[in-house]
Amino acid sequence: MAKNKFIAYENVFDQCTLRALFKLSSQGYFDEIESPISIGKESNVFTVLKGEERRVVKIYRTAANFKKMQEYMKPDPRFSQVKGSKLTVIYAWARKEYRNLLKAREKGVIVPIPYAVYKNVLVMEYIDGKKLLHDRPKYPKKFYEKLIKEVKKLKTARLVHSDISEYNVLNFKEKPVLIDFSHAVDLRYPNVERFVKRDVKNMVRYFRRLGLKLDEEEEYEKTWQDKK
Ligand SMILES: Nc1ncnc2c1ncn2[C@@H]1O[C@H](COP(=O)(O)OP(=O)(O)O)[C@@H](O)[C@H]1O
Ligand SMILES: [Mg+2]
Repeated sequence: MAKNKFIAYENVFDQCTLRALFKLSSQGYFDEIESPISIGKESNVFTVLKGEERRVVKIYRTAANFKKMQEYMKPDPRFSQVKGSKLTVIYAWARKEYRNLLKAREKGVIVPIPYAVYKNVLVMEYIDGKKLLHDRPKYPKKFYEKLIKEVKKLKTARLVHSDISEYNVLNFKEKPVLIDFSHAVDLRYPNVERFVKRDVKNMVRYFRRLGLKLDEEEEYEKTWQDKK
């Protein structure tokens, strides 16, 4: 990325983030930043361009609550060794999302393709859809069933999303695309069922509002215990 294209962002990002963005763009993952799509507590998400192709960069805030992240990662065997400075923890958190996305894709779960992660910056595929919160599916039952299928596939990738809600599912041409995988945990996480229950609860609550008759317990059995 040409340096002058970056001037506008000089005061938006801290030095460390700017350097990470430079590095990723010089490696060819994108050419320029297009516009912000979401400013959150933990991260800011921007669209970027690589030639004609739109991509997404998710930038973890270096002022995020890293203590909470660390607590969350400790029981996850893949990340239990992460200790040290605040930045070390935040970088591990970004890597966790990258690895979770890769793993999910390997098992055929429809998620954005992760292209690269460096420091607190993750580059991934742009999904041209809207959050369920803003774009209700036309056929809720069909959509719900597809979503359950994705959650089951995720289990074969040995992952539980742990943050499913109408905020983290995109409606892409009436297909559910799960996003926001930084919280997703390994199946070995102690008492992992509680996360599955919470995910199911959130899905049931949302789809009931759209008129589906769903029983939480039954849906939990269906997504988690059902071998089919
Ligand atoms: N790959 C993507 N394609 C399109 N939009 C995305 C993508 N990733 C994130 N977004 C948008 O940015 C928002 C925030 O991203 P998310 O990963 O959920 O982070 P947060 O931790 O801030 O919730 C999403 O709700 C969605 O609107
Ligand atoms: Mg989110």
